Amino acid sequence: MSSREGAALGHQWMNALSDGNRDRRRTPVVLVVDDSAASRELIKACLEEVDCQVRLTEDGQGALRSIEESAPDLVLLDVQMPGMDGYEVCRRIKTADGGTLLPVVMITAVDHPSDCVRALAAAADDFMSKPIDRLELVARVRSALRLKRIYNSLDSAEQVIYALASAVEAKDPYTDAHTHRVAESAKRVGARMGLPQDELNALYRGGIVHDIGKIGIPDQILLKPGELDSEETTRMHLHPIIGENIIAPLQSGADLLPIVRHHHENYDGTGYPDRLSGKRIPLLARIVSVCDAYDALTSDRPYRLGRSHDAAVSVLLRGSGRQWDPQVVHLVVDEARRTSDRGMYEHQQV
Ligand SMILES: [Fe+2]
Repeated sequence: MSSREGAALGHQWMNALSDGNRDRRRTPVVLVVDDSAASRELIKACLEEVDCQVRLTEDGQGALRSIEESAPDLVLLDVQMPGMDGYEVCRRIKTADGGTLLPVVMITAVDHPSDCVRALAAAADDFMSKPIDRLELVARVRSALRLKRIYNSLDSAEQVIYALASAVEAKDPYTDAHTHRVAESAKRVGARMGLPQDELNALYRGGIVHDIGKIGIPDQILLKPGELDSEETTRMHLHPIIGENIIAPLQSGADLLPIVRHHHENYDGTGYPDRLSGKRIPLLARIVSVCDAYDALTSDRPYRLGRSHDAAVSVLLRGSGRQWDPQVVHLVVDEARRTSDRGMYEHQQV
């Protein structure tokens, strides 16, 4: 890494870390969602002794809008509301981007014990019963805000990892926005396969960081125009393991490890680092691998121009079943065709 890149990277690290510090200093925001004005005011009064700012809203739609505009640190969510009930609101919060890191405490009716089970099934972090007991509410809110502070520190660790990933990308001007395109297309392909939201999130994040291990590969190998010799190839093949070692200490990165380690395995078992084959290669790694290949084929490199959509597709089809999972190739080709058709359509409109 050159000293200029090192300085830029240091800068990004400092920004990510200072974001985390700034976050720890600001007053946390609690969003109270309840259709009863009396309940909202009661909860607000109870929270006066907690160091927090209280935001009030009267229904599910209003809550989702408020969260989208500015994410709070905790949501206190009534179960029984007209229109969208609390379970549905909770599910939507938890499946949105970053939603798993926003604590939700559901407030259930005491005469409906099954509400507690349903609250947990909707991925709520905690629940409490009406009528509200002031001491219990204060204790639960303090505990949930503590949890959020821990989430925030994990989140800033992940920002450091993203900063590292963009430092890798910055080394090579030819890979401009490559990882974002891989992340977007991997998520789209995962959605077409009907994968659950947490795996779609992993696909997006994994698409961004899959090549993070290249930070440990010397520039003269990484940026070499033309073929690598066998020693350089061996060195280059270490990048999935280096990447895995970088992500491993990050608790919120556990679901990214299989993507980072296995994105260069081949379907016929000839890839690296573990020579896994077929379905033994983790599915998310198989998806990122094809999206990565399509984007690399269609992008300009120091030693060649990017191929056309059709040329890239024929490379993918030739490697289907050998290098890549045929089902994933089929979906990536179809997705790319749609995107390419859209691009041509937009081009014609200009
Ligand atoms: Fe790679």
